[in-house]
Amino acid sequence: MLHVILGLQWGDEGKGKMVDFMAEKYDVIARYQGGANAGHTLIIDGKKYVLHTVPSGIFRERVVNVVGNGVVIDPVTMAAELEKLKELGVDYKEKLVVSRRAHLTLPTHKLLDAASEAAKGKAKIGSTLKGIGPTYMDKAGRNGLRVGDLEFDDWKEKYFNLRNKHLNLIRCIDADIQFDLDELEESFFKGIDKMRELTFVDLPYFLDKVLASGKKILAEGAQGTLLDINLGTYPYVTSSTTTAAGVNVGLGLAPKRLSRVYGVFKAYTTRVGSGPFPTELFDETGRFLAERGHEFGATTGRPRRTGWLDLVALKYAVMINGVDELLMMKSDVLSGLKKIKVAVKYRYRGKEIDYFPFDLTQVEPVYETLEGWNEDITSASSTRDLPLALKRYIAFIEKYTGVPVSIISVGPDREQTIVMHEFIPLFR
Ligand code: GDP
Ligand code: IMO
Ligand code: MG
Repeated sequence: MLHVILGLQWGDEGKGKMVDFMAEKYDVIARYQGGANAGHTLIIDGKKYVLHTVPSGIFRERVVNVVGNGVVIDPVTMAAELEKLKELGVDYKEKLVVSRRAHLTLPTHKLLDAASEAAKGKAKIGSTLKGIGPTYMDKAGRNGLRVGDLEFDDWKEKYFNLRNKHLNLIRCIDADIQFDLDELEESFFKGIDKMRELTFVDLPYFLDKVLASGKKILAEGAQGTLLDINLGTYPYVTSSTTTAAGVNVGLGLAPKRLSRVYGVFKAYTTRVGSGPFPTELFDETGRFLAERGHEFGATTGRPRRTGWLDLVALKYAVMINGVDELLMMKSDVLSGLKKIKVAVKYRYRGKEIDYFPFDLTQVEPVYETLEGWNEDITSASSTRDLPLALKRYIAFIEKYTGVPVSIISVGPDREQTIVMHEFIPLFR
């Protein structure tokens, strides 16, 4: 059985929390794309953990965690995560395997990212500067260094060839980037040594065996649908396939094996970095959402832009991912708002449209206004505890998208999660 949990907006929807929550019902959790740009936050018994490359099933007993070939690994970040896990007493050597086909982010990939962003000036993507774009460029350009290369004697030769090429490129970019390469390389090589503690596998065979023995795999997405390289708000996107299609290439499992898609969305919208955001709020309500939702990036600490829920965008995300069930996060943040707006259409070049167009820069949202609620719902433990206005909000979303909302998250803790039992098959 192969399922996936992925983000339906511009990232930070709460995928980490949901993967950790659902992981108890699976045998394997497998990240299929993205890299150290991801920041997945889990709160377990009041303690906070932020994961970047390590999958969010790592704190569950007996669950094997997999870093897929669609992921790009920064050994420096990975080593720091492993150190942290060691301090916490998590036996990651037993619980974490890495695809030999995953690509490595070199220190110079990060420098190239910084140089490219600096040269773009106002048109910058707002990248996390984790080297993601340059690493995927080398992958697509067939120059990349992969985890499996580390098992061969000539890997350092390959490394130096690529980093020398990068240094030449950096000189050609019109940007003033300061760096100490020796220092960067020292932590890179240390990171590689640390990574060698993990098991490297030929992932398609490894996962095929898992499925053949009747076990369950949950794929974990990073970023969100609107940051997808093909289908997102290009060029303000990341460089991987964040959508459901990414599961198959990112793990090496045939498309028809994916039997369930869980789509995670916030009850409102946030975006970090540049790019169009039709429902963005610049007023008191926007600040309210940012404050109440603690909207700061888990990887970079940057403030997140905030706005109303955009149902046109959500329905687009549901369509291209084939979402079976919706998981709604941060519902508690809306408590206290008298009225809540949701975008149901766009006004585009004088006309009303109900689809997500190629050009998002010229759209203006058309809103429907719904009643808000005042109750604090952070201790709610079943649907019976939820205010009527919130139930109506959920029903409106279900009707608009045609997909059931099967989990309501009412706070950041693992426990603050309400399962609508009639839908989620694993929890029945
Ligand atoms: P991810 O990248 O999709 O895993 O999401 P992030 O971890 O980057 O951002 C989600 C943030 O919202 C984290 O700080 C979570 O702890 C927090 N969070 C998740 N679910 C809820 C919720 O239902 N309510 C509140 N208030 N916070 C939540
Ligand atoms: P998780 O997995 C939110 C955004 C960046 C920038 C754009 C490109 O935590 O949801 P990149 O570093 O890939 O070159 O950045 O994508 N971005 C994210 N935004 N959550 C993320 O990951 C993101 N990863 C990248 O802010 O706008
Ligand atoms: Mg995040």
